[in-house]
Amino acid sequence: MSNKMWGGRFGEGPDRIMEEINASIGFDQRLFAQDIQGSKAHCTMLAEKGIISRTDADQIIDGLDKVLAEIEAGEFAFSRELEDIHMNVESRLTELVGAAAGRLHTARSRNDQVATDFKLYVRDTLDHLDEQLKDFQLALLEKAEAHADAIMPGFTHLQTAQPVTFGHHCLAYVEMAARDRGRMQDARKRLNLNPLGSAALAGTSFPIDREMTAKALGFDGPTRNSLDAVSDRDFVLEALSASSIAAMHLSRLAEEIVVWSTPGFDFIRLPDSFTTGSSIMPQKRNPDAAELIRAKSGRVIGALTSLLIVMKGLPLAYSKDMQEDKEAAFDALDALSLSLAAMTGMVRTLTINEPSMKAAAARGFSTATDLADWLVRELNLPFRQAHHVTGSLVAKAEARGCDLDGLSLEDMQAVEPGITKDVYSVLGVENSVASRTSFGGTAPENVRQMAAFWRKELEQS
Ligand code: ARG
Repeated sequence: MSNKMWGGRFGEGPDRIMEEINASIGFDQRLFAQDIQGSKAHCTMLAEKGIISRTDADQIIDGLDKVLAEIEAGEFAFSRELEDIHMNVESRLTELVGAAAGRLHTARSRNDQVATDFKLYVRDTLDHLDEQLKDFQLALLEKAEAHADAIMPGFTHLQTAQPVTFGHHCLAYVEMAARDRGRMQDARKRLNLNPLGSAALAGTSFPIDREMTAKALGFDGPTRNSLDAVSDRDFVLEALSASSIAAMHLSRLAEEIVVWSTPGFDFIRLPDSFTTGSSIMPQKRNPDAAELIRAKSGRVIGALTSLLIVMKGLPLAYSKDMQEDKEAAFDALDALSLSLAAMTGMVRTLTINEPSMKAAAARGFSTATDLADWLVRELNLPFRQAHHVTGSLVAKAEARGCDLDGLSLEDMQAVEPGITKDVYSVLGVENSVASRTSFGGTAPENVRQMAAFWRKELEQS
């Protein structure tokens, strides 16, 4: 008797197993619109060049429109036996228009067809992600404008370092998203050459016009090497690598949202719409959306790794391995798009607890650097010595159980006789952030200027 776990499967016989491993229709049906768009452009060009007759071309185009309408209406029966979207469409076209359908595949192969379809899909996705990233930037910018002078602790090593402003923190993510958009746009530019007409791998003997199909499909021109064109998946890898970096950024913000919203921090409050309750602990407001965004970055980065591994051992030109480029890419690009939508929604709707942030900013001797800077500026101490004096004052305050501004002038002068009561002016968190006016610094004044810069920038892009 065959094994219970897998025997049933083997009972299906090798033909069924081959069909299952070979078929991509389960996932590449997503490319139906691009497949039909590519076929229409190819068909029009074939007729234009006199490679097929105008009558046949008209029938084919008419038939392709019908197939498109059927798929869009959910009336199309996809068949696994027909392997992939290309053959499913062509087979239905044959049913609809008869013999003329057989002329569509002249001067083309599924190898250039799939590369073209997937490029069109990835191009649309890159444009969409760019739009979503822009919306994410706008949500962050709104928060930065509203909270340019809200004081919070800035951290290094997640230890209180120096006070910063919440607006400055938001604008840090605007910068990251700007680089993400640059990478998406850059990937799009390099992607935008048309593989169609490269045929199986060597080009074709038919007098095709590749400029014409390139133009019809919105490409900047045809690819220059047929071998490269059918075996290139760099455009997917670049989209996934830009997506991985963007997902990593979202994950870092998600982590901050998780930390900030815990009662131990109490810096922000997420709206009910982006939190869930606990089935047992009635007080809980769990930041599930943020946690899932943090986790979904794993899928995106995983898809990049997976496709790099698929591609790295392939000789030129096409190998069936390349069919494994789609599932993980679709999943990853979907995950990033959903994460961006959720993160943008969270940023727009979260509220900040300013008193709590400010109180935390004042703890942990966060203005110690301001004190050291004052000693350099006012008493002309070398910075290293000022650092040492400040260290002693921090130790003193720690022993007294107070903050730096809780030390008396006598206490301070016992460590450094030159200190005057002026020093207290730099020990407050407001003074600290207001003084950070160097370009790119956290001062509220800078944040407002930078926010205005981004407002203008985003209006133009
Ligand atoms: N379904 C295939 C893919 O996604 C289409 C190309 C098939 N080409 C071939 N020579 N078998 O890669």
